[in-house]
Amino acid sequence: MSNLIELPILDSNAAPEPATAVAPAPAGRRLYIESYGCQMNFSDSEIVSSILAEEGYQATQDADDADVILLNTCAIRDNAEQKIRHRLQHLNALKRQRPDMVIGVLGCMAERLKAKLIEEEKMVDLVVGPDAYRSLPDLIGQAESGQKAINVFLSREETYADIEPVRLGGNGVSAFISIMRGCDNMCSFCVVPFTRGRERSRDAHSIVNEANTLYHKGYREVTLLGQNVDSYKWVDETGHRVTFAELLAMVAEVSPELRVRFSTSHPKDMTDDVLHTMARYANICNYIHLPAQSGNSRILERMNRTYDRAWYLDRIAAIKRILGPDAGISTDIITGFCGETEEEHLETLSLMEMVQYDYAYMFAYSERPNTPAAKKYADDVPEDVKKRRLSEVIALQNQHSLARNRRRIGQVVQVLVEGPAKRGEGMMCGRADQNNMTVFADHGFAPGQYVNVRITDCTSATLLGEAVA
Ligand code: 5AD
Ligand code: SF4
Repeated sequence: MSNLIELPILDSNAAPEPATAVAPAPAGRRLYIESYGCQMNFSDSEIVSSILAEEGYQATQDADDADVILLNTCAIRDNAEQKIRHRLQHLNALKRQRPDMVIGVLGCMAERLKAKLIEEEKMVDLVVGPDAYRSLPDLIGQAESGQKAINVFLSREETYADIEPVRLGGNGVSAFISIMRGCDNMCSFCVVPFTRGRERSRDAHSIVNEANTLYHKGYREVTLLGQNVDSYKWVDETGHRVTFAELLAMVAEVSPELRVRFSTSHPKDMTDDVLHTMARYANICNYIHLPAQSGNSRILERMNRTYDRAWYLDRIAAIKRILGPDAGISTDIITGFCGETEEEHLETLSLMEMVQYDYAYMFAYSERPNTPAAKKYADDVPEDVKKRRLSEVIALQNQHSLARNRRRIGQVVQVLVEGPAKRGEGMMCGRADQNNMTVFADHGFAPGQYVNVRITDCTSATLLGEAVA
């Protein structure tokens, strides 16, 4: 690849390099950005938009109208990557009509495939990994001058702490705040440690400041994001090590009117301290996402999750003890991991029966190249068996979601109004404290307002109710 420019490996926490070879973007260049995958990617797109807005790029909602198109991609399962390849084919048709357009791939797929993306998928001009977004203005400039550009350097320090994200497409009520990046866990199935690098925590003051700014702009809910929030650690100017429980309290102190959520917790690290902090602050939502992945201890060991079934159930018992039986709990489940027998799969179903999750994200195992599982174990559960097990998990979860929602009929829940409901004329929607989407008749409510709703009916996905005084 003669025209491939690889930026030198910089400490990207250092001040961004001045654009020496490349002039700043001409005013009014239009940027279109599309995000795939996890909340962290959506949050990163807001950082990217901020970096490029500084350089004069204007956001557009219309890809046809853009000078620069960026796809912020996910690599967690093969089908996520396939979806992006299809999208790239479609965008490439656009590019044939407008050859000056720059198409870039950001995020986890960029990091996983690196230069291959440019070499194999001729339609990509720009490949930028999750820690290299500060170099985007330079790289876009290079791409615009006809050279392919790539920076997939992973940093040990970059947290983008000083960048105020441009909030994209949100409801003006609820926003994400990234509190850490990367992951040191090495779950054997997972590509994230390779695509997002080593774990690092962001300056706690910058997190609190961001929450404060959002609150003053009218936001009423923040979700603190990290791959493993319980291992948040940051040393302040006095040498004190701020834990996740302490950070939660600091953010909760911004205002009792600002709800605080977080994701994702790891069963091996989730302490009672965090649960006690949640119980102490009414504005920290009574909801926890605690991925189990499997209910069988041998499979958990193969997954390198570093806990077993008994440990996981002990953490669930702690949640129910400290936050009460009504606390919202959700999980991630993988079916058909390497070597999973039918009995081991049944243990996942029995774990679900014991916990009675409110919600679950459920997936068939998808082998990711170069992960520890791909190197060590055969992906030997046939595809149809993985899928059948997945449908059993989904069917059971639907029953549980419905049963959990039914328990709330008759209760009054506090809802933060997000806006008009998608279906139903004159209906509003918002989330209850325990994260359930709730729909109720609009009596002139405004987004950002708290409304008490008496639950009268439900489906497995939604609570329905009437506002009460
Ligand atoms: N195959 C299927 N699911 C996966 N996840 C992560 N890696 C894989 C994989 N290779 C799931 C896990 C994780 C969630 C974000 O995605 O359940 O918690
Ligand atoms: Fe992947 Fe495990 Fe890290 Fe989550 S905790 S990102 S599943 S390695």
